[in-house]
Amino acid sequence: MAIIIKNAEEVDGMRVACRLAGEVLDYVAPFVKPGVTTDELDKLCHDYMVNVQGCIPAPLNYAPPGYPPYPKSICASVNHQVCHGVPNDRPLKKGDIVNLDITTIKDGWHGDTSRMFVVGDASILAKRLCQVTLECLWLGIAQVKPGGRLGDIGAAIQRHAEKQGFSVVREFCGHGIGRSFHEEPQVLHYGKAGTGPELLPGMIFTIEPMINAGKAAISELPDGWTIVTKDRSLSAQWEHTVLVTDAGAEVLTLSAGTPPMPKLA
Ligand code: MF3
Ligand code: CO
Ligand code: CO
Repeated sequence: MAIIIKNAEEVDGMRVACRLAGEVLDYVAPFVKPGVTTDELDKLCHDYMVNVQGCIPAPLNYAPPGYPPYPKSICASVNHQVCHGVPNDRPLKKGDIVNLDITTIKDGWHGDTSRMFVVGDASILAKRLCQVTLECLWLGIAQVKPGGRLGDIGAAIQRHAEKQGFSVVREFCGHGIGRSFHEEPQVLHYGKAGTGPELLPGMIFTIEPMINAGKAAISELPDGWTIVTKDRSLSAQWEHTVLVTDAGAEVLTLSAGTPPMPKLA
């Protein structure tokens, strides 16, 4: 399967689904406080997507080959959890960092975005990891333009993360997205500039770097979904869905509450 180029009408559908995904994060943000459980955040997001936005939460019952059906409507990955954290009944506590990853389906189109939240306040290291990972996301986005190569994105992300003494998770990557949750291409968060497919207007994919404070190695929990760092070091992730335009990039998952692009060196 090749990389699908979206036409103007298809891009319009993606714009709506993606903005709605961002708006779910805006909606849930004030609830991310010490004492709340990730199950409660899952229910809030589920009900907002279904009852307010008229969306389908894409994760619910999602079952790619080799995976059990995903049991919840969002992913909530706390501290050393890298991604695909399954919401549960443990309350968040002050000092936790948590990634909430939202994927909506609206009129058949998927919008995919995630942010880090600091619960109360957190350690200097935890806050720096969250900030550097946000910078990695935007450095990746800055590489997106027609004529660029997919490998330019990963190279920019890896360079920044490693310069800060952090490591890039290898096993999971960004992805094309549209009528399907996960399409070609795979968007690696490491690699070599000038390599990989050429970026063309109408391509839509996510960039979603997972950056660890310790080593890059990961393991999977027995639930078949939750990914953790092998050394139990902290991990952070931010995600946007991005369109390649004639001029460069359009970030489709922006919403009123999206943290602004950080100042990049
Ligand atoms: N939203 C994740 C991504 O960015 C995928 C989650 S799959 C799920 O690709 F089933 F865990 F929700
Ligand atoms: Co994604
Ligand atoms: Co996601």
